[in-house]
Amino acid sequence: MEVTGQSPRSAVHTNRNASPEMTTTRERISINEGWKFFRYDTAPDQLIYDVRPVVTDHNDNVVADTKPTESVAVNTSDKVLKRWILPSGNDFIRDLANHHQRPEGNPGADFPFVQNNFDDRKWASVHLPHDWAIKGPFYTEPNAIVGGGMGRLPVQGVAWYRRKLDIPLADKGRFVYLDIDGAMSYTMVWLNGYLVGGWPYGYNSFRVDLTPYLKPGGDNQLAIRLDNPTNSARWYPGGGIYRNVWLTKVNPVQVAQWGTFVTCSDISSTSATVKMAIQVNNKSHAEQHVQVVTDIYNAGKKIATFPASTATIKAGASYTAEQTITLQHPLLWGPTPTQQPHLYGAVTRVISGGKTVDEYETRFGIRSLTFDAVKGLLVNGKPVRIQGVNQHHDLGALGAAFNIRAAERQLELLREMGCNAIRLAHNPPAPELLDLTDRMGFLVIDEIFDNWERKKTPLDFHLIFPDWYEPDTRAFIRRDRNHPSIIAWSFGNEVGEQYTAAQGAAIAQKLYHIVKEEDPTRPATASMNYAKPDMPFPTVMDILSLNYQGEGIRDAPAYKSLSGIKTSPLYPAFRQQFPDKLIVSSETASALSTRGTYLFPVYEGGSAPVSEGIGGNGREQQVSAYELYTAAFGASPDKVFSSQDKHPYVAGEFVWSGFDYLGEPTPYYGARSSYSGIIDLAGFKKDRFYLYQSRWRPNYKMAHILPHWTWPERAGAITPVHVFTSGDEAELFLNEVSLGRKKKGLYEYRFRWDSVVYAPGVLRVVTWKNGILWAADTVRTTGAAAQLQLLADRSHIQRDGKDLAFITLRILDSNGRVVPRGNNRIQFEISGPGEIVATDNGDPADLEAFPSTTRNAFNGLAIVMVRATKETGAIKVTARSAGLTLAQVVINAQ
Ligand code: GAL
Repeated sequence: MEVTGQSPRSAVHTNRNASPEMTTTRERISINEGWKFFRYDTAPDQLIYDVRPVVTDHNDNVVADTKPTESVAVNTSDKVLKRWILPSGNDFIRDLANHHQRPEGNPGADFPFVQNNFDDRKWASVHLPHDWAIKGPFYTEPNAIVGGGMGRLPVQGVAWYRRKLDIPLADKGRFVYLDIDGAMSYTMVWLNGYLVGGWPYGYNSFRVDLTPYLKPGGDNQLAIRLDNPTNSARWYPGGGIYRNVWLTKVNPVQVAQWGTFVTCSDISSTSATVKMAIQVNNKSHAEQHVQVVTDIYNAGKKIATFPASTATIKAGASYTAEQTITLQHPLLWGPTPTQQPHLYGAVTRVISGGKTVDEYETRFGIRSLTFDAVKGLLVNGKPVRIQGVNQHHDLGALGAAFNIRAAERQLELLREMGCNAIRLAHNPPAPELLDLTDRMGFLVIDEIFDNWERKKTPLDFHLIFPDWYEPDTRAFIRRDRNHPSIIAWSFGNEVGEQYTAAQGAAIAQKLYHIVKEEDPTRPATASMNYAKPDMPFPTVMDILSLNYQGEGIRDAPAYKSLSGIKTSPLYPAFRQQFPDKLIVSSETASALSTRGTYLFPVYEGGSAPVSEGIGGNGREQQVSAYELYTAAFGASPDKVFSSQDKHPYVAGEFVWSGFDYLGEPTPYYGARSSYSGIIDLAGFKKDRFYLYQSRWRPNYKMAHILPHWTWPERAGAITPVHVFTSGDEAELFLNEVSLGRKKKGLYEYRFRWDSVVYAPGVLRVVTWKNGILWAADTVRTTGAAAQLQLLADRSHIQRDGKDLAFITLRILDSNGRVVPRGNNRIQFEISGPGEIVATDNGDPADLEAFPSTTRNAFNGLAIVMVRATKETGAIKVTARSAGLTLAQVVINAQ
């Protein structure tokens, strides 16, 4: 069988018919199409997972959506379905004594939506991945049911999805599983009127077994209920079945869900030992004698076969085959650009009675990781400085609905900046994201929880932690452990248990233990913004994952008057207490800015918390992009750089955050999306992008001037000019008059000319490195808006109904220069086999719904996202604006 180098997960499925023998083995069928969808406006049904606490606001008013649930649940406990859902986690609970028994009965059976003959024709037709909330509209009122924290979008409430499954008679005797990569949240699944099971945590992937309720030989009715509480998240969670959904059909003797684990040791360029553990379940009624054979493929060619394993497995039992092989001259996986991310494929066949009964593909990479307390991270023996960012799961205007191209575009932009690592804040991603990081050579910290027993919002994960921490943690690791890009597991972010001394550390220990049982090869950690070196919490961790504490919190002059915890830089204290543990900053900066917005006067120091008049404008809800302003506990990038340079044993940093994300719009909660991204929500680079690029790609010749130079109202006013460059010396010219040549001092990361007096014309910077001419940049005063321009990121896209073109709209003056404050109203139109999915402009305060085809440009730019339908042909996008010359662009769907 061919294993393609490109599509790790799809190889088995797409090549399913490659050999006749295989058609009787495993099938993985996408069932993203053909769903019906219904969401309650008010008063949902009462088939709740569990009773939830009543949440009141500051005035003791009950916050909507929790009250009905509460009153019903108390009276009719048979509508609390938790006891039927818990058994879905059993495969991920180690101690059999703790397995959940399914109670008698079939709750919900009399509810119309679960029944086969319910008429759902009036429901909306949707295809997955689907985020019900992203189309809006945004809640604009001050005390909205969903405020800025969760993105002002209608995520809350209960909704149902229904779909028919055509199950042929030939499936009789096979097992049919429903695999949901992610659904937000409290998923409960019915088939043909029977409650099958479910999974509450919205970020984990899970499986329910449809087999007992299946009627092969015709239509089977699936009904899925989701429930999203308000006050359940610190950011935008999205709503709906927002990732892919699959039917997996297998024979009774089968490789378990995520049943393989590849580990590598003794790795060098000449050889490597590859070990593979394969769990085979015998779900038949008879004992089975099996042979397990695994071939290794490189770029589609079989290159080796593990020595086969054989076993007799009792009915209902499992067997784990352990196989080992030594590969000569392995091609290693390593992060780009210094190494190559090479991937191998393994195809395992389970043979029983002379027939292949299952075939299972595992994608893996061979690489060694060393976590050295002095040298930092070494990959394959070579030091790799962690130049990372934190990423949330949403894809901006596309919401939580996962899209491979949108995620790839984010990673491409981050890579251009010199970023080589991603921390998945604060929950497991879509599986395809990890395929991308494997393929593109990013290092990843995969993280599962933002809270344990102690809550951060009233209805968050703490409600289900006691029942689900074990199945969630084990499922998380089993799904992801073969990805070479993952370098560490994080089982918590800034959890409240940091504050509860030994008690909190004991919970950390419990989770740590589970992580290590599932994967002893990678370090396990939880991020600390509070725990100190002398507390029990950090002693649990393999590596020290610090949020903000390393570089110090509120310790710079501008932060002195703030209330809240003040922490001096803690790298040295952690280092002293834990001389053998690697330290990495898992969150740094929390610098805030709005792309292309500059406010005056400019703070003369190096880092300041945003406040009114100091980097902030509350009325406009904008933060100045001089890139000096931060959250109250944050630090400018420059301050973080100097702290890291002063403590060179620190392995690197993960900046908060790579992209802006929906929700958490600190400091302006009237807005919809964050200000912390290096790149804005639309995917446009803020000035900060170039500051990180100048540090992370020191050999790349670049220089970047800020601000723009079109300030008719500032003639004669002081208008500071800052330059980010990978050079070490710079000279600035205004209208060809030098404003001085400067050298970067020790612990300086930008050039500043803070007393420039504005005059229209040309600003030009020339930079040098080691005395040699290096790079230049120019900005010019522009004229009035005159014309539009459309630029597509790609000229051809796939006609698969998923691929996207990201088309940038620019507002230009008559000389073709971007008008830096252009905010004209734009009308987008489309013709041909494509549709406009969303538009955006990166303005955190813009509350125009994302699907709108009319939108104001923001600081000269807007974006339109176009999805190909399933036909070939030319897709033409037009942008119009009153008084401006229109623009058109053509993309080919092929
Ligand atoms: C951190 C937290 C992140 C995010 C960030 C905001 O404390 O871990 O999730 O809230 O602050 O700047």
